[in-house]
Amino acid sequence: MPVTQSEGDVVLRPMTIADLGQVVAIDRISFPTPWPEDAFRYELERKHRSLCWAAEWRAPAEDPEVVASIVVWLVLEEDEAHIATLAVKPGYRRQGIAQTLLARALIECTQRGAKQALLEVRESNQAAQKLYRKFGFESVGLRRGYYQDTHEDGILMTLASLDLDKLADLAEAG
Ligand SMILES: CC(C)(COP(=O)(O)OP(=O)(O)OC[C@H]1O[C@@H](n2cnc3c(N)ncnc32)[C@H](O)[C@@H]1OP(=O)(O)O)[C@@H](O)C(=O)NCCC(=O)NCCS
Repeated sequence: MPVTQSEGDVVLRPMTIADLGQVVAIDRISFPTPWPEDAFRYELERKHRSLCWAAEWRAPAEDPEVVASIVVWLVLEEDEAHIATLAVKPGYRRQGIAQTLLARALIECTQRGAKQALLEVRESNQAAQKLYRKFGFESVGLRRGYYQDTHEDGILMTLASLDLDKLADLAEAG
């Protein structure tokens, strides 16, 4: 279900190599240590192990624009979906794009066999923690000094049971 706004739509779709310039630009303004382009390229090549999606803003008389992306590692021998990165372009935040993108990505992971999800988040990143708690993620541990750039601790959050009905509600409401 696209996120519909007054003058256009945000459409979710698989990321492609052609998106990389825009994806990397969003990453650079979103994280102290962004992923290099080659890291995204590598994930795109690992089709069976990585789910890479983009959210694209489409409006009449405008070129489509990538406004968010997500990469999820599928660790299916462990029944796990590991959220590797998620970012929304600053001017498009607080409109439900991350919620819809994460919910839709987790639905796809569940359909491919994942039963639980996990991620690490910076201790200072309250916005992201609030997003994840809305999904039912819980803090289960602290990885001391996990982020090498600032030596900040990483909070390990897990969602013990992926529930398709709840994810569908979150995707719809986002
Ligand atoms: C975190 C981030 C992905 C959220 O994206 P977003 O599209 O703005 O989030 P949404 O609009 O879908 O918000 C969904 C929920 O997340 C929480 N949330 C999102 N941004 C928030 C903020 N700035 N403050 C408080 N809560 C926030 C809220 O619970 C919100 O639900 P609500 O609108 O009903 O209150 C975005 O701020 C971002 O790209 N940040 C930089 C990169 C980053 O931190 N990524 C996560 C790494 S772990």
